[in-house]
Amino acid sequence: MSKILVTGGTGHLGRDLAPALTGAGHAVRMFARSAGQDSSVEWASGDLATGNGIDEALHGVDTVIHAATLSPIARRGMRLVDFFSSPSSVDVDGTRHLLCAAERSGVSHFIFVSIVGLEFSTLPYSRVKLAGEQLVRKSSLPWSVIRATPFYYLLAQMLGGLKWLPVWPLPTSPSNPVDTRDVARYLAEAVSDGKRGVRLEIGGPDTMPFSDFARQYRDALGLRRLVLPLPIGRKMSLKMGLVATRERLGERTWKAWLCQQRERGH
Ligand SMILES: NC(=O)c1ccc[n+]([C@@H]2O[C@H](COP(=O)([O-])OP(=O)(O)OC[C@H]3O[C@@H](n4cnc5c(N)ncnc54)[C@H](OP(=O)(O)O)[C@@H]3O)[C@@H](O)[C@H]2O)c1
Repeated sequence: MSKILVTGGTGHLGRDLAPALTGAGHAVRMFARSAGQDSSVEWASGDLATGNGIDEALHGVDTVIHAATLSPIARRGMRLVDFFSSPSSVDVDGTRHLLCAAERSGVSHFIFVSIVGLEFSTLPYSRVKLAGEQLVRKSSLPWSVIRATPFYYLLAQMLGGLKWLPVWPLPTSPSNPVDTRDVARYLAEAVSDGKRGVRLEIGGPDTMPFSDFARQYRDALGLRRLVLPLPIGRKMSLKMGLVATRERLGERTWKAWLCQQRERGH
């Protein structure tokens, strides 16, 4: 059993990490700017951007899962500004603060949650995220990098932004987004499997053209929209962050996820 500090505990992945880790018998401390709802874990408050509270949060911790990020796109949907800049205060400066503190406190395993295909994407958020990942790879700590494809919630958020359009022109790039619960289960395994370094990437169980994911979304919501498939090349797909991986597959399908969201009234 490890004492694990999870950053980003109030986020989409973080909320699924709590049950995955406690279910595997680990003691979990979540690091957040303000405590979340889950009372099955301990909460430590602080701010990665300033470094406040990190040393205290690491007391007695042997494993860190760094799942905090500052992605404006994930928070409020895509805007024009996101093609020009993305803040680095959490993903780069915050990662640096966390690594330094983890080195000081003798953490034995630092797990970084990352994104498939980062080096090919030209989106500013990807550049920032890649810079954070490189800090981890260069660190003197024993580390693991686990890359995932885009999460279902992000896909739903992006497609939700198209609802007002009668026609959705969308790329046919092969994609397999994934459920955060599958990623959380994988991370929980990675805590105690003894492996280190760049791990197998994880994606969802279905690989389809991106436009087909949009069709399933439209049908699940009962919308009358025309999805217009746009064939684009592999290089351009990767630049746009449209990725797929077969290295490790999650279990929950996009259809099942959409169905559950509907049952929950979302
Ligand atoms: N979303 C995707 O499609 C996707 C795909 C592959 C990998 N990933 C990676 O998976 C991880 C989790 O992503 P997610 O989508 O679950 O993120 P998310 O829902 O946007 O949550 C981000 C988390 O980071 C925390 N955070 C932000 N600024 C902070 C700061 N200054 N100090 C401390 N904590 C701060 C947030 O806490 P507050 O409550 O304080 O805001 C929140 O808990 C990230 O590393 C991301 O890059 C995401």
